[in-house]
Order: sequence, then C-alpha cells, then structure tokens
Amino acid sequence: MARSGKVTVVGAGFYGSTTALRLAEYDIFETVVLTDIVEGKPEGLALDMNQSRSIEGFETKVIGATTTPEGAGYEATANSDVVVITAGLPRKPGMSRMDLIGVNAGIVRGVAENIAKHSPNAVIIVVSNPLDEMTALAQIATAFPKNRVMGQAGMLDTARFTNFVAEKLGVLTSSVKTLTLGSHGETMVPVPSRCTVDGKPLSELLSQVEIDELVDRTRNGGAEVVALLKTGSAYYAPSAAAARMAKAVIEDSGAIMPVCAWVDGEYGISGVYLGVEAEIGKSGVRRVVEGSLTPSEVAALKAAAEAVRTKQADVKDL
Ligand code: NAI
Ligand code: 2OP
Repeated sequence: MARSGKVTVVGAGFYGSTTALRLAEYDIFETVVLTDIVEGKPEGLALDMNQSRSIEGFETKVIGATTTPEGAGYEATANSDVVVITAGLPRKPGMSRMDLIGVNAGIVRGVAENIAKHSPNAVIIVVSNPLDEMTALAQIATAFPKNRVMGQAGMLDTARFTNFVAEKLGVLTSSVKTLTLGSHGETMVPVPSRCTVDGKPLSELLSQVEIDELVDRTRNGGAEVVALLKTGSAYYAPSAAAARMAKAVIEDSGAIMPVCAWVDGEYGISGVYLGVEAEIGKSGVRRVVEGSLTPSEVAALKAAAEAVRTKQADVKDL
C-alpha cells in the first residue's frame, strides 16, 4: 500500500496524542510528527505508538519532537502537508472556552509562526480553544491564504448531536444524519431541519420539546464531559473529528464536512471564520457549501457570525 504525506500534530496532550494515533492507524501517511514543549513527552508517546504497529497492522512512522515556544525543534515538522494545532490549555469545570483566550492566544500565535516558517505550504487545522478565535489568529499569524486555515468544531458537535439522537431513538448512529453550524460555543447552531433518521425528518419522530432538549445537550456537549472528568476536556470524539479532516486533506477527497471556515458571502455573511459545511481537499477548504436552512436557522447563523466577529477582530492584538 502506498503511503504518502506528512502530518504534524502540535501538542501531545490528550487531544494531540489521540489524534496522532488515529492518523497513524489510518496507515495512509508516510509520517506523523507529534510535538510538545514538555521534554521527552512526544518522543515517549511516539515510541509507544510505533511499538503498537505490528499489533494493529499499520506502518506509518510516528516521530516525536520536543520543541520550544521560540522555535527550536521545529525542523522535525518541516514540509508537513497538514498540521493540526492542539497546543493550549483545556477547560476546567465552570470555565467557558472563552476563559482560555489570553493564554491560548500566546501559545497558538507562537506555534502558527513556527509552522509557517517550516511548512509554508501546509493546510492548518486548529483545535485549540476558543476555537473560532484561535482559527482566525492562526490565519493572521501564518499569513496563509484563508482557505488553508480551518478549525475543527462542527464535525465534533455534529457527531455529538448524532449520538444523542441515536440514543434517544434507540437506533444505529449510521442511520442518523445531523448537522451543527455556527460557533463552537454559546452561538452553536444545531440544525434540526437537516436531521434525518433512515431518511425520515427528525420532526416526524420526536416532539419539538424533545428535539429542543437534544439541541441544548449538543450545545453543552463539551461542558457535560468537562464536568464529569473534573480535569481536562473531551478528546476521543474531538480527535476523531480532526483526524477525519486531515485525512480528507491528504486524500484530496472533496468530502463535505462542517468545519470552521472563512465565509465570504455565503448565507449573506462575510469576513468571518464560522462553522459551515465545506468541501475539503488538498488545498484545505475548496469551497463553502451553502446548504438549505430554514429562515430561523439562517438568522441563528447570522447571529453566531456577529457574536464571533468582534472577538476575531480583537485576536490580532493578543
Ligand atoms: P492537554 O492539556 O492534555 O494538552 C495540551 C498540550 O499542549 C500539553 O501537552 C502542553 O504541554 C502542550 N503545549 C502547550 N504549549 C505548547 C506549545 N507552545 N507548543 C507545543 N505544545 C504546547 O489539553 P487537550 O485536552 O489536549 O486539549 C488541547 C486543546 O484543545 C485545548 O485548548 C482544548 O480546549 C481544545 N479542545 C478543542 C476542541 C474542539 O472541538 N475544537 C475539543 C476538545 C478540546
Ligand atoms: C469540547 O467541545 C472543550 O471544546 C471542547 O469538548
């Protein structure tokens, strides 16, 4: 089997290490590079992952590299095709994603600058929180074209929504289709009108009250996990989402996924990074896909765009 391409995962915490392992287990990349500022951690995790190769049956090589915020060690990431940025603090119970902005902005800016130096043609997938703002910041710090910088949130939020619908109705997740747009925060926009179960509209299977409960649970999906874990945030579903995005890039698949992408006129919204459906390929976002939404869903999407717009404009000063 031909393996090709290099993907770097920055940050070897819970999110980064699970993403690196998922990417390696796809067995499609030649190399997965995992980095962190904690000395020895990425090397140790890479060694451990490589030792699982003969059991799990994959040949992708995982390379661990300790880096410094100033840029030492980034040679190992040189000429990556895709870079997933997970570096940054996660939430603690009671914290909003926005509470992380100050410290994570410093981290993401530094990482993005170092990545731009060593991998000038990479597609960047940001996951560090607050997601919409950190995606905008990574684009500013790299000065990459906007289509080459995107954020992961919609794949995760949509997967949560799908899981809740499947559990509620006692059906397979594979029979459920859902969609979540907007921000990765208070103004997340779960889209019930695009939800089906075996092709049947969700509104024929659940009452409005029941749908509203699932929408609320989806919007609070991250906080629900944080409250249970007490320390740290979710990483199994988040890493699955980011890994699928990286796979779509390296395979130039054209898969349509909900991602945080630069919106330029779609739905009457412009000049902001926002959760929308987009076609993903080796250039990153090939195009934003404007799907059918009800008028109230479009209004909610516009409200989400306005809620994140000012904060995104402010990140350049952080
Ligand atoms: P974690 O604390 O387990 O790992 C973060 C890692 O980043 C640590 O190992 C730390 O040493 C490393 N790091 C810090 N500064 C760095 C730098 N300058 N360069 C390289 N590495 C650096 O946290 P976890 O659970 O992995 O989460 C990471 C981020 O992802 C958090 O900001 C979290 O809020 C976010 N997240 C986003 C989601 C999304 O849907 N977009 C979902 C879940 C988490
Ligand atoms: C999540 O949604 C905390 O953003 C993170 O799980």
